[in-house]
Amino acid sequence: MSNRASSQTDEPGAGHAFPLLYNVVYCSRAADGIDDAAVQRIIETSRRSNPAQGITGLLVFGSGVFFQWLEGPRDNVTQLMANLTKDPRHKDVVSLSAVEEVRERLFPDWDMELVNGEDIRDVLVDAMETAKDANNVEALKLLIAELDAGQLGGLGQPA
Ligand SMILES: Cc1cc2nc3c(=O)[nH]c(=O)nc-3n(C[C@H](O)[C@H](O)[C@H](O)COP(=O)(O)O)c2cc1C
Repeated sequence: MSNRASSQTDEPGAGHAFPLLYNVVYCSRAADGIDDAAVQRIIETSRRSNPAQGITGLLVFGSGVFFQWLEGPRDNVTQLMANLTKDPRHKDVVSLSAVEEVRERLFPDWDMELVNGEDIRDVLVDAMETAKDANNVEALKLLIAELDAGQLGGLGQPA
């Protein structure tokens, strides 16, 4: 389940090994009536608009819980988060982390990848094992620990 890209050279901030990225991770609860078809529509919208914003990441949906990893330029991610928090398809949006750093993209090829709740641990472990940036490794370790401790609202448990 690799998502690595061979090149980071299309990023602004050329000359740095890694771009300046704003990374937001949040959890939320799906609104009543949100089913797989509704989630698929969210993914289609995201894949249409994220590339122009330089935003990549993944969306996990399982047991009525969303978990999203967003990475991209600060202004664009901030604008998306402002839209997202008003979106009636989910509620109780809880930010787990928001960090701006010079770092590699963890999901450079994913305009917005839908990941099953049951697969999220594998995705995070895969990302951790391929990450070159120590900050990313630490952030992912923490998320995996929270997942294992059941702190991410039932995510990662069989539906
Ligand atoms: C859980 C969830 C994740 C979403 N992820 C994205 C995303 O990555 N990119 C995106 O453009 N819209 C995403 N959306 C949709 C936005 O909330 C919003 O509908 C979309 O940006 C269009 O906004 P606009 O109608 O104001 O242009 C998501 C919605 C939900 C409920």
